[in-house]
Amino acid sequence: MSDYKFMLESHLSAEQNRAVAAIQTTAAEAGVPLFLTGGALRDMLGGFPIRELDFTVEGNAIKLAKAIEKKGVAKIVSTDETSKTAELAFAGGVNVNIAMARSEKYAKPGAKPKITPATIHEDLKSRDFTMNSIALSLNKASLGLLFDPTIGASDLERRELRTVTNHTLSDDPARILRMIRLKVRMGLTLDERTQTQYQSVREAKLETKIPAEALRVELMRIASEQNPGAVIEELHKEGLLKLYSPALTGPKLNQAGFAKLLKARQNMPFGVEFPVNWTPLFLFFLTEKLSPKEVSGLVKATGLSQKDVNAWKKLEANAKKLEKSLKGPKVNRPSLVYRALVEQPGEEILFVLARSGERIVQDRIKNYLSKYLNVAQEVTDEEVTGAEPGTPKFKKLKDALLNKRLDARPKKVVVEEVLPPSPPPIVGRSARSAARQ
Ligand code: CTP
Repeated sequence: MSDYKFMLESHLSAEQNRAVAAIQTTAAEAGVPLFLTGGALRDMLGGFPIRELDFTVEGNAIKLAKAIEKKGVAKIVSTDETSKTAELAFAGGVNVNIAMARSEKYAKPGAKPKITPATIHEDLKSRDFTMNSIALSLNKASLGLLFDPTIGASDLERRELRTVTNHTLSDDPARILRMIRLKVRMGLTLDERTQTQYQSVREAKLETKIPAEALRVELMRIASEQNPGAVIEELHKEGLLKLYSPALTGPKLNQAGFAKLLKARQNMPFGVEFPVNWTPLFLFFLTEKLSPKEVSGLVKATGLSQKDVNAWKKLEANAKKLEKSLKGPKVNRPSLVYRALVEQPGEEILFVLARSGERIVQDRIKNYLSKYLNVAQEVTDEEVTGAEPGTPKFKKLKDALLNKRLDARPKKVVVEEVLPPSPPPIVGRSARSAARQ
């Protein structure tokens, strides 16, 4: 196995590896060349966790996605006929994006690109930044071979963000927002030529050509960043936040709110599934200090859907109910805290953790995230006896077993006192002293 294929396998979770294997097999059966590309490869080479798997195929990506779905291993979430892209959801919350290798030609800044099928080399060369323009072959003949036509891997090593061409940013000005997000997230610097290119795009005010849809997509990306407040602050410093809302400045930036959100996020459990819909959570904090009129301006500028708006407006009310249910003296055992939280959406739990002034609520949520979820994961089906798996009785027995385990007092660690060994009798001396007495 090549070093890079090995690196990939060791970097991915078991579920992600299963998804890669299924895609690889289906692509081989269909005879379409398959590559791991974009953010997934950048994050792997840069030592960051891989959040989403991006694949590119020299062929029909949507047809491949349908063949994968037919095998029952994943569901198609969305398809885009223009860019010939499909999004798939695999088990265990693994999100996959499969795109057709394409070249993009822009008639003018911010215009919709003309998309044509291309080879993987042409595809990589029409991307935004060199570190996003690397591909790993997942094909039998060249398995594990790295394609890096713009020498992105060495930019990644130097932590330097470099555009692929001199017109990368003017072709698609939305890329300046991506640039700032990546810079903040990965602690990168801009190379000199990219800095100059950025300045000329700003002098020409090309950011005003960013379409509402691109603003919305980027906002969703910021929402799921580890530290969205830092990205928002940087966009503000660059004078780009006004594209979303001119009111987002000064105290209305809500940096205190974002700091609380970041602190709550730091309690997220490791190695346990804890799905969170980041969009409403982020949008709540982003708009918290804005007036209703300013909020509708932001919704209009980004074309946010009514569903998104409803979700963030409902969040506070739902979280209030959750906070109330966690406060009472009745939730006085770990199993009761667990039951109060296990069915609740992750975003509501984090919201309460970020905003509640009640110490007891904070402690109960922290225990749930750091202890109870782990205990629940350790209770296996094999331990349940007396019912068929999948039946209501089985669920009841398993729940009872888990409750017992959660409420079991932690075992006391018995520290035995270790006495020093008694000294050997000094026969001669005792005899002499006895004689003296
Ligand atoms: N891309 C681009 N120009 C854009 C958007 C995307 O060239 N305006 C390219 C980038 O090379 C990117 C790839 O398409 O790596 C996939 O896009 P996307 O999934 O949006 O970005 P990732 O870099 O994979 O993910 P993220 O930004 O969240 O880290």
